Amino acid sequence: MPEKITVVGSINMDLVTSTDRMPEQGETILGENFAVIPGGKGANQAVAAAKLGAYVHFIGRVGSDVFGGRLITHMKEQGVSTDDLEQVSDEPSGTASIILAEQDNRIIVVPGANNTVTPEVVAAREDVIAESDIMLLQLEIPLESAVKAAELAAAHDTTVILNPAPMQDLPKALLDNVDYFTPNEHELLPLFQNEPDASIYHSRCVMTKGADGVLFTEDNKERHIPGYPVEPVDTTGAGDTFNGALAAALTRNVPLPEACRFANAAAALSVQKMGAQGGMPMQHEVENFLKNKQDRS
Ligand code: RIB
Ligand code: NA
Repeated sequence: MPEKITVVGSINMDLVTSTDRMPEQGETILGENFAVIPGGKGANQAVAAAKLGAYVHFIGRVGSDVFGGRLITHMKEQGVSTDDLEQVSDEPSGTASIILAEQDNRIIVVPGANNTVTPEVVAAREDVIAESDIMLLQLEIPLESAVKAAELAAAHDTTVILNPAPMQDLPKALLDNVDYFTPNEHELLPLFQNEPDASIYHSRCVMTKGADGVLFTEDNKERHIPGYPVEPVDTTGAGDTFNGALAAALTRNVPLPEACRFANAAAALSVQKMGAQGGMPMQHEVENFLKNKQDRS
């Protein structure tokens, strides 16, 4: 059995409209394309890790609408274990309305069923959490549920990776149970200002900087692992691919700098295709990409 990752998180249907420019207030314009594609930060991270060969278990909720059924089928097709992906009747599936314009992406997430992933739902799967090597968390489910998940993981020595997106204030109780913290540049500063004493900022904080790669601190020294600039088609979900790939590499006991290099490469490959999950690579694709880069340097 390969190493096990449990994702406790969100799953959305992404409603993606591509246009050459954003409409002004009160204006109607003609766009270019519309697509309905699976997304949600939790689901994206789960799929990224599964495509890279990890055994991934997803704890989450969808609605009993058409999106819910399609999302569950899709997760199965991507090789994610969906035993704990439940359909609820009282909320719609989570949606993300995404407008992709040149140089300007805007997203509105309506969590719907994701909000029914309560601390009780999480606690009911303590057995799964205990068996996992790594837990991946983001912030599109209720904050208290993420707190509970991290607490249970810590109690069972399951490594916790927290991707603090979308940004919000985080209690120290959560930060103290996190092993790897993966904010982007915009998320890190306000969090640090609110909880400057949380040790995570000084230990295993891996800050992502898009195509510039990542920064982290090791033995009190700052390290930069450069990214791979590519011509992006759609950067939606690049951070999710990074997190899923980081988890997949860490379950294989790859050291952090190498794991970051691997995750940077996976993210660079993913942004070259439309959709958060479009372009997420398989393990050999990442390896070939890295080998090509090496051969040329
Ligand atoms: O990180 C990208 C994701 O954020 C999208 O798939 C969308 O669902 C939003 O949750
Ligand atoms: Na993509």
